Amino acid sequence: MSVSPDRDLQAPSAEAGASKPPRHVALIMDGNGRWAAARGLPRTEGHRQGLVALRKVIRHAAKIGVDVITIYSFSSENWSRPETEVSFLMGLLRRFVQRDLSELHEANIRIRIIGGRQDLEPGILKLLQEAEDLTRDNSGLDLVVAFNYGSRAEITRAARKLAEQVAAGVIRPEDITESALAAALDTGGLPDPDLIIRTSGEMRLSNFLLWQAAYSEFYFCDLLWPDFDEAAFDAALDCFCARERRYGGLSAKTY
Ligand code: FPP
Repeated sequence: MSVSPDRDLQAPSAEAGASKPPRHVALIMDGNGRWAAARGLPRTEGHRQGLVALRKVIRHAAKIGVDVITIYSFSSENWSRPETEVSFLMGLLRRFVQRDLSELHEANIRIRIIGGRQDLEPGILKLLQEAEDLTRDNSGLDLVVAFNYGSRAEITRAARKLAEQVAAGVIRPEDITESALAAALDTGGLPDPDLIIRTSGEMRLSNFLLWQAAYSEFYFCDLLWPDFDEAAFDAALDCFCARERRYGGLSAKTY
């Protein structure tokens, strides 16, 4: 499976008809806890192995020319987990950025963080900012890290931003269009995900990219995230390519 690179992020993601390989793949990396429990290990070991799987998938996606990978690495609802697990996930993100940043930068990968920044501790915030700054001008894979992310909160932030601009007289209410709202989201400027993959057999979005997923294809597989690898990623892409995307229109086969 190879995907030809196409870097115009503002362009519509694809046209109706037989599906081209996805430009933007979003990942809901689920099942770390169950992977660990099945081995009698603590949940944190599942997350650690989840990071190993993630590294493989990022490297592979960059190699085959996917434009954008978005990963759901910590949701705004994940704060309700036991404090030890939350702080482990924070530490994992810190280690990921500290250890992998130079390799990601050398691979021409651009990092972007989406999600609420207000609840993050200053040290993590600074690291994330540094990762974005260092890789800002890279032109390879866009790695979008959804951290402390919740889609309803993101849409609410965007709506408030536009409302403030109306109140300040910068824009008029009629300037609030679908594209203005899309641009005000954390993902502004990125193409919508063509394909959303969720592992572990769960079939829901869990407050992930609700606006952006309007025309995404979904791929659910039973593998637990730490077992997900390059072959599983390719299988998802092959399945996507066999689908016909109609965007509310008619099938090319309809006559
Ligand atoms: C869901 O599995 C997974 C998460 C909440 C964390 C995802 C994190 C990684 C894959 C590691 C990479 C992390 C960073 C920060 C880059 P779960 O814990 O809900 O699993 P379960 O449903 O089996 O309990």
